[in-house]
Amino acid sequence: MSSVKVECVMKENCKLGESPVWEEKENSLLFVDITGKKVNRWNSLTKEVQSVSVDAPVSSVSLRKSGDYIITLGTQFAALNWKKKSVTTIIHIDQDKSNNRFNDAKVDPAGRLFAGTMAEEIRPAVLERHQGSLYTLFPDHSVVKHFDKVDISNGLDWSLDHRTFFYIDSLSYSVDAFDYDLQTGKISNRRGVYKMEKEDSIPDGMCIDTEGKLWVACYDGGRVIRIDPETGKRIQIVKLPVDKTTSCSFGGNDYSELYVTSAYLGMDEAWLSRQPQAGSIFKITGLGVKGVPPNSYAG
Ligand code: BGC
Ligand code: BGC
Ligand code: CA
Repeated sequence: MSSVKVECVMKENCKLGESPVWEEKENSLLFVDITGKKVNRWNSLTKEVQSVSVDAPVSSVSLRKSGDYIITLGTQFAALNWKKKSVTTIIHIDQDKSNNRFNDAKVDPAGRLFAGTMAEEIRPAVLERHQGSLYTLFPDHSVVKHFDKVDISNGLDWSLDHRTFFYIDSLSYSVDAFDYDLQTGKISNRRGVYKMEKEDSIPDGMCIDTEGKLWVACYDGGRVIRIDPETGKRIQIVKLPVDKTTSCSFGGNDYSELYVTSAYLGMDEAWLSRQPQAGSIFKITGLGVKGVPPNSYAG
């Protein structure tokens, strides 16, 4: 039996850390601070963090085939040039909803970027409901809306055979699945595959491992859980020293390390003094499973 180890790898704390993405060629972990309006890159060899500040909430960062990154910024898809620290708009969405912003996003196995929106929160997880939608940005920069009436669009990933799309709308407290058509990028036949346990609180970011099991970061649950989408059972719990665990993805050596982002937004002083690492990045090793390398946006 391997023994599971949780380490805090960074001193810098994010207000709302999210979107961990491993960039192999830089030996680095990319992540964002949504409300801190920053895209960050942590070099696992030098342990240094570089940042680019942006002028709106930035909810995700993804790799791009052409090099550089694509981000979801406020209600736009945008290109980020890391060296020049410059941002170029690709396209605006939700223009009829001035109180919305993007939230979680991920690139599908064909290089399309999936990203959902939500209303701005009054405080964490408290917001006007049903304001969000799920979108795809295709490589030719066209956009498709899949559905609306989303509360908090969150974790997403694809099955190993690419025939299922997994999705979390946080306030439904469930993990859903759709049939996935990789040729067209269409989703259909929505159904629930996992119902959250009360003690795990709110489902947030999610990723798949090479055994086809899903890892879900539990916001206000202080943990990541591993679930089996076939049986609808929770099969493992890994606790972290902070409550606001927001997202997870595999990286590092052979994608055997699970990186977890967290937040301190919404915590009062007493809470923060009990959890001084709130908002940092954690690395979990010894899980005995690996993840799948992130895809790159093809446009
Ligand atoms: C959102 C937060 C929200 C949290 C819990 C995150 O993905 O960015 O704003 O509070 O999920 O639902
Ligand atoms: C895999 C997912 C992976 C995704 C990109 C797909 O091929 O099935 O596990 O996360 O690519 O992140
Ligand atoms: Ca999230």
